[in-house]
Amino acid sequence: MKHTLIITGGAGFIGSHVVRELVTKYPDYTIVNVDALTYAGNLENLKDIDHLPNYHFEKVDICDAQAVNRVFEKYQPTGVIHLAAESHVDRSIADPLAFVMTNVIGTVNLLNAAREVWKGNYEGKRFHHVSTDEVFGALGSEGFFTEDTKYDPHSPYSASKASSDHFVRAYHDTYGMPIIMTNCSNNYGPNHFPEKLIPLCIHNIINNKPLPIYGDGKYTRDWLFVIDHAKAIDLVFHEGKNGASYNVGGFNEWTNIDLVKELCKQMDAKLGREPGTSEQLITFVKDRPGHDLRYAIDANKINKELGWYPSVTFEQGLAKTIDWFMDNQDWLNNVTSGDYQKYYNKQYQG
Ligand code: NAD
Ligand code: DAU
Repeated sequence: MKHTLIITGGAGFIGSHVVRELVTKYPDYTIVNVDALTYAGNLENLKDIDHLPNYHFEKVDICDAQAVNRVFEKYQPTGVIHLAAESHVDRSIADPLAFVMTNVIGTVNLLNAAREVWKGNYEGKRFHHVSTDEVFGALGSEGFFTEDTKYDPHSPYSASKASSDHFVRAYHDTYGMPIIMTNCSNNYGPNHFPEKLIPLCIHNIINNKPLPIYGDGKYTRDWLFVIDHAKAIDLVFHEGKNGASYNVGGFNEWTNIDLVKELCKQMDAKLGREPGTSEQLITFVKDRPGHDLRYAIDANKINKELGWYPSVTFEQGLAKTIDWFMDNQDWLNNVTSGDYQKYYNKQYQG
């Protein structure tokens, strides 16, 4: 079938990779990127594909129900892939309401708009909600999150994502809307905004600035290369079961301190620095309040049902990521000027 897809948050980190994947793989689809271009949205992320005839852009804030309805009326989408969100945990601790607005209200506005244009004719339609493993809370040193793990969010960010997940399921159970959901672990890769651990450290290593490690650095995350997430979304959108959710992860757990040391090692080699030079930049700083100890995804369902598995090893993915940032220092300098400096000073010196 020939889809018309609304992809929200397509100018952001993961969204831009999803847009690129689908625009190039499905030239007969119409792909509409709906994004408000917040500090995290950047049309530069799509400059290699924005000339393609099947790509369209609409600058719309999903909190604005009328604007959302207008864009649904205009394009009459057969599918929605919803990624737009406030996505940074530390910002959610500083300003929870912004997360309620975009992540909860924005999601409900999209569900309402889809319901309005689909008018109960759900044949060939699908609403794909992109969520996070953080809704499941924190693990101890053992165990994994499965699709059946009870929700237990701790941060304002994860609470807002959990709430949006519940609304998406409620529209399936109440109105019969064909929904599907993915809950993914930590992504990394090109275009990652440098407020998150890996790109922040890459930026600071290049500039010989301190690498801030929260608490004792023993917190553990499961890292997935962003293009593998984009491919998982494509697969689940097209082949997943109606009403189901799929966990997506990298089978790749790292403590923050070990990850940053690995990054320092690879960056020293790329920058021609003496081994051990960048590690000296590591600085332990005040912990994140309510910091979840460990996330780890059991991604066996998507592997067994749909045959998905990460295509690159962490070593390959990290090397590609570092190369991208080194080759795109203009991108990095652009996004770290202006408001980023204010955020950075407040977060790390305030
Ligand atoms: P991001 O912060 O890089 O990008 C978010 C995008 O959404 C930006 O383009 C921004 O302009 C847009 N946006 C924000 N508020 C908006 C609004 N009110 N209206 C319209 N557009 C708005 O986020 P990301 O890291 O790419 O994450 C994308 C999605 O994936 C989010 O839903 C996030 O919860 C989820 N997710 C992220 C990760 C990760 O590791 N980054 C992992 C799992 C799930
Ligand atoms: O698990 C999926 C989630 O991964 C996504 O839903 C979120 O959108 C995404 O931001 C990410 O959340 P995290 O909080 O895990 O990512 P972040 O890069 O902010 O932090 C990763 C780990 O590194 C975490 O334990 C906090 C720590 N950290 C982070 C920063 C920014 C530091 O030690 N120092 C830092 O300066």
